[in-house]
Amino acid sequence: MSNIIECRSVCFSYTEGNNQTPVLRNLNLEVSSGDSIAILGQSGCGKSTLLNLIAGLDHPTEGEVLVNNINISELDEKNRTDLRSNNLGFIFQFHHLLNDFTSLYNVALPLLINGSNIDNTIALSTKLLTDVGLENRLNHKPSELSGGERQRVAIARAMITKPACLIADEPTGNLDSKNAEGILELIIDLNSKATSALLIVTHDLGIANKMERKLNLADQELVEI
Ligand SMILES: Nc1ncnc2c1ncn2[C@@H]1O[C@H](COP(=O)(O)OP(=O)(O)O)[C@@H](O)[C@H]1O
Ligand SMILES: [Mg+2]
Repeated sequence: MSNIIECRSVCFSYTEGNNQTPVLRNLNLEVSSGDSIAILGQSGCGKSTLLNLIAGLDHPTEGEVLVNNINISELDEKNRTDLRSNNLGFIFQFHHLLNDFTSLYNVALPLLINGSNIDNTIALSTKLLTDVGLENRLNHKPSELSGGERQRVAIARAMITKPACLIADEPTGNLDSKNAEGILELIIDLNSKATSALLIVTHDLGIANKMERKLNLADQELVEI
């Protein structure tokens, strides 16, 4: 089966002036359809850095990152954005919703930007918000929602493009444990229905244990646990 994401011998260092901060070394990772993978590791070990490389926001110092078999670093900005938005959906620790827009439009925006039909997109956005239990919050703005509700909107937004892989970077790190559990179950449930791959970064072993594979990032290397 072909990989949605493939990291081949990826090395990465941050460079500031003469200062080099090595973060990843010879990292290999393959994600294919239906996979569910947790990436564990201490704060500061490089988990978000790895996701930035997968998103093409940073580029490997050595090695390559393929998304849908295309080297994301070799594309120009427009094609890179298209490759990312056509294949990957992101959920972050902090929701990154647009404060001036309602839930409905925050979720609809990724498709509206692509020029999708407005009526169909609003209908799909309404359905996804209903799936995450927010059918009564369609016209609320982020400031009018609780933390857990905002994260539900962010989940719906990540799913609207039907990504081949849903990527979550500590999606419950900002929530209390009761809310966190609900959000996580929602992600797993929606993702299995959408039959896409799931890559979750977490330092919570309870979350990681719900995934098929667990990988630990430590000392710049990714090891199966
Ligand atoms: N823009 C940057 N410039 C220099 N160093 C950075 C930068 N961003 C992150 N780092 C360093 O890289 C390491 C990995 O960071 P990060 O990927 O955010 O870790 P994690 O997500 O696992 O907590 C940390 O030591 C951090 O201080
Ligand atoms: Mg991080």
